[in-house]
Amino acid sequence: AKYKVGYFVGSLSSTSVNRELSKALVRVAPDDLEFSEIPIRDLPLYSPDYDANYPPEAVTLKDAIHRAQAILFITPEYNRSIPGGLKNAIDWASRPWGQNAFDHVPTAVIGASIGDIRTALAQQSLRAVLSFCNARQMTAPEAYIKYTPELFPGNGAVTEKSTEDFLAAFMKEFRDHIARVLTVLPRG
Ligand code: FNR
Repeated sequence: AKYKVGYFVGSLSSTSVNRELSKALVRVAPDDLEFSEIPIRDLPLYSPDYDANYPPEAVTLKDAIHRAQAILFITPEYNRSIPGGLKNAIDWASRPWGQNAFDHVPTAVIGASIGDIRTALAQQSLRAVLSFCNARQMTAPEAYIKYTPELFPGNGAVTEKSTEDFLAAFMKEFRDHIARVLTVLPRG
């Protein structure tokens, strides 16, 4: 059986380097992982005023998370944290109180940036959020990816063997993490 993985790309940029990274991750992942992106672009800004009556975009978001057996976050770093659009999506998914879609969900975090910090602080920030949301996080390996157009020329290609092998190993560990978590916490 295949594991259904929903993934968030934390960037809304039409030229997102994290979307390039997502294509590479999907390409090198084990065959028993099946991917679908969970879009965040059209969500309104969350307010508790919506709790009694979620708008269709937010219902779709929560349904997509419930259908997935695991969630992968591929995010840039904005001002030493995660982009507001991604935080907004997580806030929607975590509410109304008592209906947190991330409860016990196997997750992993990865990100790419053009700078030398390589999203390390954004990932720490995201891990704190996911911890409060009671997601089951893969804690190792961590993956801090430095994007260059030479390394990721497009369509999921990776030109350096050591980087491609590292990304493949990361996804294999994620598969093993998902399998372990679902053994004790089955989903759908
Ligand atoms: C950035 N960038 C950035 N990079 C970084 O390593 N640490 C940071 O704190 C920030 N802060 C930041 C804030 C804002 C508002 C922008 C627009 C950008 C640069 C960032 O890494 C670069 O734009 C990447 O290309 C973003 O990833 P995507 O959108 O291309 O996937």
